[in-house]
Amino acid sequence: MANKLWEKNFEVNKEIERFTVGRDRELDLYLAKYDVLGSIAHITMLESIGLLGAEELRQLLAELKAIYRLAERGEFVIEDGVEDVHSQVELLLTRKLGDMGKKIHSGRSRNDQVLVDLKLFTRHELKDVVDAVKVLFDELQHKSEQYRHVLMPGYTHLQIAMPSSFGLWFGAYAESLADDMLFIQAAYRLTNRNPLGSAAGYGSSFPLDRGMTTRLLGFDSMDYNVVYAQMGRGKMERNVAFALASVAGTMAKMAFDACLFNCQNFGFISLPKECTTGSSIMPHKKNPDVFELIRAKCNKIQSLPEQIMMVMNNLPVGYFRDLQIIKEMFLPAFGELKDCLQMTSYIVNRMEVNEHILDNAMYDPIFSVEEVNRLAAAGMPFRDAYRQVGLQIEAGTFKADHNLHHTHEGSMGRLCTDEIRELMDRTIAGFHFERMEQAEKDLLA
Ligand code: ARG
Repeated sequence: MANKLWEKNFEVNKEIERFTVGRDRELDLYLAKYDVLGSIAHITMLESIGLLGAEELRQLLAELKAIYRLAERGEFVIEDGVEDVHSQVELLLTRKLGDMGKKIHSGRSRNDQVLVDLKLFTRHELKDVVDAVKVLFDELQHKSEQYRHVLMPGYTHLQIAMPSSFGLWFGAYAESLADDMLFIQAAYRLTNRNPLGSAAGYGSSFPLDRGMTTRLLGFDSMDYNVVYAQMGRGKMERNVAFALASVAGTMAKMAFDACLFNCQNFGFISLPKECTTGSSIMPHKKNPDVFELIRAKCNKIQSLPEQIMMVMNNLPVGYFRDLQIIKEMFLPAFGELKDCLQMTSYIVNRMEVNEHILDNAMYDPIFSVEEVNRLAAAGMPFRDAYRQVGLQIEAGTFKADHNLHHTHEGSMGRLCTDEIRELMDRTIAGFHFERMEQAEKDLLA
């Protein structure tokens, strides 16, 4: 039996096969469960338009569900000589059911099959990312409230500037994640549209019921135009990568802060021993390798949109094998980002802050603006007050008053933790993951 779905009457050169299959046998495993779900929806629709008998559908569904469970247990493999996940699923079906297994491919192509697989996979992964972002968000908000009164210096140009607080520092990264969540939601909505039925990119002469597969798979709508549906390959990945990059950017920045603030010369935070690593030569070392790796991994994820664009740019309309390469960068990115999110949450939870940073007189100048403002509020023109305090600092006679009065929204005296939580909650409520989850449950019932 020919192992290639497209093999006809000549054998494929082995080297060409190795090169063109590339890493698909390994990477398509990410897609196995979703390939099966797509097929379940597709053949249910084929039966409804008379291209499969009811008994054929029954047997094929039972077999597909068994393959799904195999994949769920991590036991689905793509055998030697089999090109990709689509071929492997069809092979398993024909082994069990003979020619009936070959009928499932009516009215579709591997082009729309891989498109739908990628979309089903991605929307699932995005839900996991949302959950992991929310855990980190909650942790940061908790720390922000816990240390709302603990002051630290704020910097501009890495020069001490004005008083800041751990309430502000932790809270800033929480709010950053609330913004990132908007990107994730946009990415999710773009992803949650059905490309199935676009076939090779030009539709089919079978009277496919695309509305039915859209409902069965729990998509919000379809990618209507079949040519556009195929153009979505690469575009979806790039847009989702932008959302992942946004979250990664938040974490990379925070990781750098944490490394800096953990350094002995700063001493603003400390990481518990068990969250640090030692040196093979210097016995005193407790290095923040975790944050360094988070920084590097997240910087790498920030380059993902560009990597994807380098592959998809300048391709004209229609499918090209170039698009296969995007899977190599895209599919593993979710696991890496989730790993960083979990690690950051874990370590933020255990991070301790130095409550006495500003006792050190070297930070006194950061209270200069407070003093200028106090004089100005008492009636002195701002420029005169600025000059007077400046001269005191020059002369070494400036006395810092550590009593701060910051009362406006978003300042250290009024962090707006609830308002920021409200932003996050409102976005999360807009995902409606329950539709996707219910649809998949129904398909497997
Ligand atoms: N492995 C292929 C990919 O990821 C599947 C689609 C193959 N289609 C084709 N026309 N060769 O793009």
